[in-house]
Amino acid sequence: MFVKGEDWNILMILVTGATGHIGSAVVRGLSARGHKVAALVRDAGAAPRRLPRETALRVGDYEDASALGSAFSGIDELVLISSDGDAEAVMRHHANAIDAASAAGVRHITFTSIIDVGEASPFYYAPVYSDAERRLAACGMPSAIIRCGLYSDFILDAFLLPARESAELALSAGQGLMAPVSRDDVAAAIIAVTARPDKSRALYTITGGHALDFGGIAATYSEIVDQPLLYRPCAIDEYLAFASARLDAPWPQAFSSLCGSIAAGRYGEISGDFTALTGRQPESFRDFLVRAASLGA
Ligand SMILES: NC(=O)c1ccc[n+]([C@@H]2O[C@H](COP(=O)([O-])OP(=O)(O)OC[C@H]3O[C@@H](n4cnc5c(N)ncnc54)[C@H](OP(=O)(O)O)[C@@H]3O)[C@@H](O)[C@H]2O)c1
Repeated sequence: MFVKGEDWNILMILVTGATGHIGSAVVRGLSARGHKVAALVRDAGAAPRRLPRETALRVGDYEDASALGSAFSGIDELVLISSDGDAEAVMRHHANAIDAASAAGVRHITFTSIIDVGEASPFYYAPVYSDAERRLAACGMPSAIIRCGLYSDFILDAFLLPARESAELALSAGQGLMAPVSRDDVAAAIIAVTARPDKSRALYTITGGHALDFGGIAATYSEIVDQPLLYRPCAIDEYLAFASARLDAPWPQAFSSLCGSIAAGRYGEISGDFTALTGRQPESFRDFLVRAASLGA
Protein backbone atom coordinates (compact mmCIF):
# COMPACT_ATOMS: atom_id res chain seq x y z
CA MET A 1 0.00 0.00 0.00
CA PHE A 2 1.54 3.31 -1.06
CA VAL A 3 0.71 6.46 0.86
CA LYS A 4 2.71 9.07 -1.04
CA GLY A 5 4.72 9.12 -4.21
CA GLU A 6 8.37 9.99 -4.71
CA ASP A 7 10.84 8.69 -7.29
CA TRP A 8 14.61 8.93 -7.00
CA ASN A 9 17.65 7.06 -8.18
CA ILE A 10 19.41 5.07 -5.48
CA LEU A 11 23.06 5.97 -5.12
CA MET A 12 24.35 3.71 -2.35
CA ILE A 13 22.55 0.88 -0.55
CA LEU A 14 23.75 -0.51 2.79
CA VAL A 15 22.56 -3.98 3.81
CA THR A 16 22.73 -4.92 7.51
CA GLY A 17 22.93 -8.50 8.77
CA ALA A 18 25.05 -8.96 5.67
CA THR A 19 26.94 -12.02 6.90
CA GLY A 20 23.63 -13.77 7.60
CA HIS A 21 21.54 -15.98 5.34
CA ILE A 22 19.14 -13.32 4.12
CA GLY A 23 21.50 -10.32 4.21
CA SER A 24 24.22 -12.07 2.21
CA ALA A 25 21.66 -13.15 -0.43
CA VAL A 26 20.40 -9.57 -0.64
CA VAL A 27 23.94 -8.19 -1.08
CA ARG A 28 24.60 -10.70 -3.87
CA GLY A 29 21.25 -10.12 -5.56
CA LEU A 30 21.45 -6.32 -5.54
CA SER A 31 25.09 -6.37 -6.72
CA ALA A 32 24.12 -8.73 -9.56
CA ARG A 33 21.46 -6.21 -10.62
CA GLY A 34 24.13 -3.52 -10.88
CA HIS A 35 23.31 -1.60 -7.68
CA LYS A 36 26.04 0.01 -5.60
CA VAL A 37 25.92 -2.01 -2.38
CA ALA A 38 27.84 -1.98 0.87
CA ALA A 39 27.53 -4.54 3.66
CA LEU A 40 27.29 -3.76 7.38
CA VAL A 41 29.28 -6.41 9.27
CA ARG A 42 30.49 -6.84 12.84
CA ASP A 43 33.74 -8.56 11.91
CA ALA A 44 35.40 -7.42 8.69
CA GLY A 45 37.88 -10.31 8.93
CA ALA A 46 35.12 -12.93 8.88
CA ALA A 47 33.01 -11.23 6.19
CA PRO A 48 34.80 -12.69 3.12
CA ARG A 49 33.61 -16.17 4.16
CA ARG A 50 29.99 -15.08 3.59
CA LEU A 51 30.26 -12.31 0.98
CA PRO A 52 31.90 -11.78 -2.41
CA ARG A 53 35.46 -10.54 -1.85
CA GLU A 54 34.84 -7.27 -3.70
CA THR A 55 31.95 -6.27 -1.37
CA ALA A 56 32.42 -2.82 0.22
CA LEU A 57 32.30 -3.24 4.00
CA ARG A 58 31.11 -0.90 6.76
CA VAL A 59 31.73 -2.12 10.31
CA GLY A 60 29.24 -1.69 13.15
CA ASP A 61 27.27 -3.46 15.85
CA TYR A 62 23.59 -2.62 16.40
CA GLU A 63 24.55 -1.98 20.05
CA ASP A 64 26.99 0.77 19.09
CA ALA A 65 25.01 3.85 18.05
CA SER A 66 28.12 5.88 17.22
CA ALA A 67 29.61 3.14 15.01
CA LEU A 68 26.25 2.92 13.21
CA GLY A 69 26.34 6.70 12.66
CA SER A 70 29.74 6.44 10.94
CA ALA A 71 28.73 3.33 9.00
CA PHE A 72 25.60 5.01 7.62
CA SER A 73 27.42 8.14 6.39
CA GLY A 74 26.87 8.63 2.65
CA ILE A 75 24.22 5.91 2.49
CA ASP A 76 21.00 6.66 0.60
CA GLU A 77 19.06 3.45 1.19
CA LEU A 78 19.28 1.16 4.22
CA VAL A 79 18.15 -2.46 4.10
CA LEU A 80 17.67 -3.17 7.80
CA ILE A 81 17.56 -6.91 8.40
CA SER A 82 16.03 -7.44 11.83
CA SER A 83 18.25 -8.35 14.77
CA ASP A 84 17.80 -11.47 16.89
CA GLY A 85 18.13 -12.62 20.52
CA ASP A 86 16.86 -11.08 23.75
CA ALA A 87 13.74 -9.00 23.03
CA GLU A 88 14.89 -5.87 24.89
CA ALA A 89 18.21 -5.92 23.06
CA VAL A 90 16.55 -6.46 19.69
CA MET A 91 14.20 -3.53 20.33
CA ARG A 92 17.20 -1.35 21.21
CA HIS A 93 19.12 -2.55 18.12
CA HIS A 94 16.29 -1.56 15.77
CA ALA A 95 15.88 1.81 17.52
CA ASN A 96 19.65 2.48 17.28
CA ALA A 97 19.67 1.67 13.57
CA ILE A 98 16.60 3.76 12.74
CA ASP A 99 17.85 6.74 14.78
CA ALA A 100 21.35 6.54 13.26
CA ALA A 101 19.92 6.30 9.73
CA SER A 102 17.73 9.32 10.36
CA ALA A 103 20.62 11.36 11.76
CA ALA A 104 22.94 10.33 8.89
CA GLY A 105 20.49 11.53 6.24
CA VAL A 106 19.58 8.09 4.87
CA ARG A 107 16.64 8.64 2.52
CA HIS A 108 14.80 5.32 2.71
CA ILE A 109 14.74 2.19 4.89
CA THR A 110 13.53 -1.27 3.96
CA PHE A 111 12.89 -3.25 7.15
CA THR A 112 12.08 -6.92 7.69
CA SER A 113 9.23 -7.15 10.19
CA ILE A 114 6.90 -10.01 11.11
CA ILE A 115 3.26 -10.77 10.30
CA ASP A 116 2.03 -10.78 13.88
CA VAL A 117 2.65 -7.31 15.31
CA GLY A 118 -0.78 -7.05 16.95
CA GLU A 119 -1.08 -5.64 20.47
CA ALA A 120 -3.01 -8.72 21.62
CA SER A 121 -0.36 -11.10 20.31
CA PRO A 122 1.16 -13.55 22.79
CA PHE A 123 4.35 -13.72 20.68
CA TYR A 124 7.52 -12.69 22.55
CA TYR A 125 8.72 -10.54 19.62
CA ALA A 126 5.40 -8.86 18.71
CA PRO A 127 6.07 -5.72 20.85
CA VAL A 128 9.62 -5.53 19.45
CA TYR A 129 8.43 -5.33 15.87
CA SER A 130 5.46 -3.06 16.55
CA ASP A 131 7.93 -0.70 18.26
CA ALA A 132 10.22 -0.68 15.21
CA GLU A 133 7.28 -0.13 12.85
CA ARG A 134 6.10 2.80 15.02
CA ARG A 135 9.59 4.31 14.99
CA LEU A 136 9.77 4.01 11.21
CA ALA A 137 6.41 5.73 10.82
CA ALA A 138 7.51 8.52 13.18
CA CYS A 139 11.04 9.16 11.88
CA GLY A 140 9.93 11.14 8.85
CA MET A 141 11.83 9.17 6.23
CA PRO A 142 9.83 6.87 3.90
CA SER A 143 10.17 3.17 4.59
CA ALA A 144 9.14 -0.16 3.12
CA ILE A 145 8.08 -2.56 5.84
CA ILE A 146 8.21 -6.20 4.80
CA ARG A 147 6.16 -8.32 7.20
CA CYS A 148 7.51 -11.84 6.84
CA GLY A 149 5.70 -15.10 7.48
CA LEU A 150 7.51 -17.96 9.17
CA TYR A 151 10.64 -19.01 7.34
CA SER A 152 10.52 -22.60 6.06
CA ASP A 153 14.16 -22.89 7.16
CA PHE A 154 13.20 -21.81 10.71
CA ILE A 155 10.35 -24.33 10.92
CA LEU A 156 12.78 -27.06 9.85
CA ASP A 157 15.54 -26.06 12.28
CA ALA A 158 13.49 -25.02 15.31
CA PHE A 159 10.66 -27.57 15.24
CA LEU A 160 11.15 -30.48 12.82
CA LEU A 161 14.79 -31.43 13.34
CA PRO A 162 14.51 -31.54 17.18
CA ALA A 163 11.48 -33.88 16.83
CA ARG A 164 13.12 -36.28 14.37
CA GLU A 165 14.52 -38.69 16.95
CA SER A 166 11.20 -39.27 18.74
CA ALA A 167 9.17 -39.25 15.48
CA GLU A 168 6.66 -37.07 17.33
CA LEU A 169 6.21 -33.33 16.86
CA ALA A 170 4.56 -32.18 20.09
CA LEU A 171 3.81 -28.44 19.94
CA SER A 172 1.35 -26.09 21.57
CA ALA A 173 0.22 -24.72 18.20
CA GLY A 174 -3.20 -26.42 18.04
CA GLN A 175 -4.52 -26.59 14.49
CA GLY A 176 -3.21 -23.12 13.69
CA LEU A 177 -2.20 -22.46 10.09
CA MET A 178 0.97 -20.91 8.70
CA ALA A 179 2.16 -20.24 5.13
CA PRO A 180 5.93 -20.94 5.29
CA VAL A 181 8.22 -18.90 3.06
CA SER A 182 11.85 -19.75 2.40
CA ARG A 183 14.64 -17.38 3.41
CA ASP A 184 15.73 -17.32 -0.24
CA ASP A 185 12.28 -16.03 -1.21
CA VAL A 186 12.35 -13.44 1.58
CA ALA A 187 15.69 -12.26 0.15
CA ALA A 188 14.16 -12.16 -3.37
CA ALA A 189 11.30 -10.01 -2.06
CA ILE A 190 13.71 -7.62 -0.30
CA ILE A 191 15.75 -7.30 -3.50
CA ALA A 192 12.61 -6.56 -5.53
CA VAL A 193 11.41 -3.95 -3.02
CA THR A 194 14.84 -2.31 -2.77
CA ALA A 195 15.28 -2.18 -6.54
CA ARG A 196 11.96 -0.36 -7.02
CA PRO A 197 12.54 3.24 -8.11
CA ASP A 198 9.38 4.29 -6.23
CA LYS A 199 10.47 5.10 -2.70
CA SER A 200 7.04 5.90 -1.27
CA ARG A 201 6.07 4.44 2.09
CA ALA A 202 4.94 0.87 1.57
CA LEU A 203 3.88 -2.20 3.48
CA TYR A 204 4.29 -5.73 2.11
CA THR A 205 3.42 -9.12 3.54
CA ILE A 206 5.60 -11.96 2.33
CA THR A 207 4.29 -15.49 2.85
CA GLY A 208 4.26 -18.80 1.07
CA GLY A 209 1.37 -19.61 -1.24
CA HIS A 210 -0.25 -22.36 0.86
CA ALA A 211 -1.27 -22.55 4.51
CA LEU A 212 -0.60 -25.71 6.51
CA ASP A 213 -1.00 -26.66 10.14
CA PHE A 214 1.75 -28.62 11.91
CA GLY A 215 -0.07 -31.84 10.98
CA GLY A 216 0.46 -30.98 7.30
CA ILE A 217 4.00 -29.76 7.96
CA ALA A 218 4.93 -33.03 9.74
CA ALA A 219 3.27 -35.17 7.03
CA THR A 220 5.15 -33.32 4.27
CA TYR A 221 8.46 -33.71 6.13
CA SER A 222 7.75 -37.39 6.72
CA GLU A 223 7.11 -37.94 3.01
CA ILE A 224 10.21 -36.09 1.81
CA VAL A 225 12.74 -37.58 4.24
CA ASP A 226 10.98 -40.97 4.32
CA GLN A 227 10.87 -41.08 8.13
CA PRO A 228 7.80 -41.11 10.36
CA LEU A 229 6.85 -37.84 12.05
CA LEU A 230 3.44 -37.30 13.62
CA TYR A 231 2.12 -34.02 14.97
CA ARG A 232 0.53 -34.05 18.42
CA PRO A 233 -0.95 -30.77 19.71
CA CYS A 234 0.07 -30.39 23.36
CA ALA A 235 -0.29 -27.92 26.23
CA ILE A 236 2.11 -24.97 26.37
CA ASP A 237 3.71 -26.25 29.61
CA GLU A 238 4.66 -29.53 27.95
CA TYR A 239 6.31 -27.77 25.01
CA LEU A 240 8.02 -25.26 27.34
CA ALA A 241 9.52 -28.13 29.36
CA PHE A 242 10.74 -29.83 26.15
CA ALA A 243 12.27 -26.61 24.79
CA SER A 244 13.76 -25.54 28.16
CA ALA A 245 15.66 -28.82 28.43
CA ARG A 246 17.35 -28.12 25.10
CA LEU A 247 17.58 -24.37 24.59
CA ASP A 248 18.85 -21.31 26.46
CA ALA A 249 16.72 -18.24 27.12
CA PRO A 250 15.01 -16.57 25.36
CA TRP A 251 14.26 -19.36 22.88
CA PRO A 252 11.86 -21.53 24.96
CA GLN A 253 9.74 -18.47 25.67
CA ALA A 254 10.07 -17.17 22.11
CA PHE A 255 9.15 -20.49 20.47
CA SER A 256 6.30 -21.38 22.88
CA SER A 257 4.73 -17.94 22.55
CA LEU A 258 5.09 -18.23 18.78
CA CYS A 259 3.16 -21.52 18.98
CA GLY A 260 0.48 -19.62 20.93
CA SER A 261 0.32 -17.04 18.17
CA ILE A 262 0.03 -19.75 15.51
CA ALA A 263 -2.69 -21.54 17.54
CA ALA A 264 -4.61 -18.26 17.69
CA GLY A 265 -4.61 -18.08 13.88
CA ARG A 266 -2.24 -15.11 13.74
CA TYR A 267 0.12 -16.67 11.14
CA GLY A 268 -2.43 -18.08 8.68
CA GLU A 269 -2.42 -15.20 6.19
CA ILE A 270 -1.55 -15.93 2.55
CA SER A 271 -0.43 -12.84 0.68
CA GLY A 272 0.00 -12.26 -3.05
CA ASP A 273 2.70 -9.62 -2.48
CA PHE A 274 5.60 -11.99 -3.22
CA THR A 275 4.23 -12.81 -6.68
CA ALA A 276 3.33 -9.18 -7.37
CA LEU A 277 6.92 -8.17 -6.56
CA THR A 278 8.83 -10.98 -8.25
CA GLY A 279 6.47 -12.25 -10.96
CA ARG A 280 6.70 -15.85 -9.74
CA GLN A 281 5.14 -18.14 -7.13
CA PRO A 282 6.94 -18.58 -3.82
CA GLU A 283 8.67 -21.90 -3.25
CA SER A 284 6.28 -24.39 -1.64
CA PHE A 285 7.17 -25.92 1.72
CA ARG A 286 7.42 -29.29 -0.02
CA ASP A 287 9.88 -27.97 -2.64
CA PHE A 288 11.86 -26.27 0.10
CA LEU A 289 12.18 -29.59 1.96
CA VAL A 290 13.27 -31.38 -1.23
CA ARG A 291 15.93 -28.72 -1.71
CA ALA A 292 17.01 -28.88 1.96
CA ALA A 293 17.15 -32.71 1.82
CA SER A 294 19.34 -32.54 -1.29
CA LEU A 295 21.71 -30.36 0.76
CA GLY A 296 21.76 -32.91 3.59
CA ALA A 297 19.24 -31.39 6.08
N1 LIG B 1 10.21 -15.02 10.26
C1 LIG B 1 10.91 -16.03 10.77
O1 LIG B 1 10.51 -17.21 10.71
C2 LIG B 1 12.23 -15.75 11.41
C3 LIG B 1 12.92 -16.82 12.01
C4 LIG B 1 14.16 -16.56 12.56
C5 LIG B 1 14.72 -15.28 12.50
N2 LIG B 1 14.02 -14.27 11.91
C6 LIG B 1 14.59 -12.90 11.78
O2 LIG B 1 15.17 -12.80 10.49
C7 LIG B 1 16.49 -12.22 10.60
C8 LIG B 1 17.38 -12.66 9.45
O3 LIG B 1 17.43 -14.08 9.37
P1 LIG B 1 18.77 -14.83 8.92
O4 LIG B 1 18.42 -16.26 8.81
O5 LIG B 1 19.41 -14.12 7.76
O6 LIG B 1 19.67 -14.61 10.23
P2 LIG B 1 21.21 -15.02 10.43
O7 LIG B 1 21.71 -15.88 9.33
O8 LIG B 1 21.32 -15.49 11.84
O9 LIG B 1 21.96 -13.61 10.30
C9 LIG B 1 21.84 -12.62 11.30
C10 LIG B 1 22.72 -11.45 10.88
O10 LIG B 1 22.53 -10.41 11.83
C11 LIG B 1 23.82 -9.97 12.27
N3 LIG B 1 23.75 -9.48 13.63
C12 LIG B 1 23.31 -10.14 14.73
N4 LIG B 1 23.43 -9.37 15.82
C13 LIG B 1 23.97 -8.20 15.40
C14 LIG B 1 24.36 -7.00 16.07
N5 LIG B 1 24.24 -6.86 17.41
N6 LIG B 1 24.87 -5.99 15.31
C15 LIG B 1 25.02 -6.13 13.97
N7 LIG B 1 24.68 -7.25 13.29
C16 LIG B 1 24.18 -8.26 14.00
C17 LIG B 1 24.69 -11.21 12.18
O11 LIG B 1 26.07 -10.82 12.17
P3 LIG B 1 27.25 -11.83 12.65
O12 LIG B 1 27.59 -12.67 11.44
O13 LIG B 1 28.33 -10.92 13.07
O14 LIG B 1 26.69 -12.66 13.79
C18 LIG B 1 24.22 -11.78 10.85
O15 LIG B 1 24.81 -11.10 9.78
C19 LIG B 1 16.96 -12.67 11.99
O16 LIG B 1 17.97 -11.83 12.47
C20 LIG B 1 15.67 -12.56 12.79
O17 LIG B 1 15.45 -11.23 13.21
C21 LIG B 1 12.78 -14.48 11.37
